[in-house]
Amino acid sequence: MSDAHPPLRSYGRLKTRTIKPRQAALMETLLPTLRPPNAPFDPRALKPDADEVWLEIGFGGGEHMAAQAQRHPDLLLIGAEPFQNGVASALRHIDEAALKNVRVLDGDARELMANLPDASLDRIFVLFPDPWPKSRHNKRRIVQAETVAEFARLLKPGGKLRFASDWADYVDWSLARFVANPAFRWTAEEAANWRTPPADHITTRYEEKRLGDCAPVFLDFIRSSPSA
Ligand SMILES: C[S@@+](CC[C@H](N)C(=O)[O-])C[C@H]1O[C@@H](n2cnc3c(N)ncnc32)[C@H](O)[C@@H]1O
Repeated sequence: MSDAHPPLRSYGRLKTRTIKPRQAALMETLLPTLRPPNAPFDPRALKPDADEVWLEIGFGGGEHMAAQAQRHPDLLLIGAEPFQNGVASALRHIDEAALKNVRVLDGDARELMANLPDASLDRIFVLFPDPWPKSRHNKRRIVQAETVAEFARLLKPGGKLRFASDWADYVDWSLARFVANPAFRWTAEEAANWRTPPADHITTRYEEKRLGDCAPVFLDFIRSSPSA
């Protein structure tokens, strides 16, 4: 991604409510220990014994990220989220579960991705991203042809990506962009595959609010190998 043309802002407000004192303290003490480097780095170096490295883009309150990290202590999960209240909530989850396999960027996931080497991730989650439903705002959506190409660069062959949304137009938009990129294969074989939450999905409070215009849709993709 070129520094000359920083991407459009894809997120809403950076802060809403006052952050509770305990969470504010974690922002001061725990967050600095979890931030990934602000320069090119190999994520393996953050946890050399990690089986896999996963990335969650826009983790919101961090419920999905923390629960996945707890389920899979042998992998490294890196999350990025610019919304301060969300980061504070995620830190509470990480602290309460004493998770040692999570790293957190309190900022734009696209800046983090630009610092990661090719084929360095096993899995990417883009769950219920900001829908930007007005057509004049569609260009702010995190899923663009350029970000799909970046996901392809970062995933190992055979790596997985999950996109979920409850906005019908954003589902169509994203499916079109992933299918247009030959690096991705959509795994669905029947409607139940995208209408039913996958067995390993963790529902968040945000998802439960059902703020979109359709039932949640889950799109799972596999990163093809270059020869496939
Ligand atoms: C609608 S919320 C969903 C949160 C969470 N994924 C869930 O399902 O509960 C989308 C989140 O993505 C974050 N977001 C938007 N653009 C982002 C970006 N470029 N990098 C990281 N997070 C981003 C927003 O701040 C927001 O918290």
